[in-house]
Amino acid sequence: MATMSMNKVIHAAFRRDLDRFAGALDGFRDGDSARAAELGRAWDNFDAQLTDHHEGEHEVAWPHLERAGVATDLLAQMDAEHGVMLGALEEARESMTALRSDPSAARAATARQAVERLRRATVDHLDHEERELEPFYLEHHDHPEVVAMSREFRKRNVSGAGQFLAWVTDGATPEERASIAVPPPVFAVMTGLFGRRYRKDIAPVWRQPA
Ligand SMILES: [Fe+2]
Repeated sequence: MATMSMNKVIHAAFRRDLDRFAGALDGFRDGDSARAAELGRAWDNFDAQLTDHHEGEHEVAWPHLERAGVATDLLAQMDAEHGVMLGALEEARESMTALRSDPSAARAATARQAVERLRRATVDHLDHEERELEPFYLEHHDHPEVVAMSREFRKRNVSGAGQFLAWVTDGATPEERASIAVPPPVFAVMTGLFGRRYRKDIAPVWRQPA
């Protein structure tokens, strides 16, 4: 049974990935080009998911929430926080790209600092958004605008749904997993078949022996 919104489940996946990058960069060994390539693959997925999430909120979620009565000022504030997060994301993206082409300890240290700034901007925003919007999502999960919003998100992400589901459940708690409203047989096909690239190329990046 769902005890949290899908939004909060996705937020947990962002927090997990930011912690993973911080830990991996702390332990990065000078000249380890194979590890830099692996982290680069995981980064590309994280970057795409975070970009799609905040663009999706602006383009899909906010208009529905506004029609459902959420204050325009609050949504504008969320957009402003997205702007701060985006600046930090660009900086982190540049440093992760630099690490791929020059897998040195110095590049890893620079990327680690950029990831920390991104983590702070992102977690601050996610915490704020959850304080403001999670009660609304839980209380109004069957509001016509919220139902229409969920439908629109599903349509928007058809081609990437398998990868998204494989990523969002990788390391998820049972409570988070139970809050994903996808029937088990559909989930199995989506992650098994269409989430194969995540399971094969990215999930193992985080299963490395220390
Ligand atoms: Fe957001």
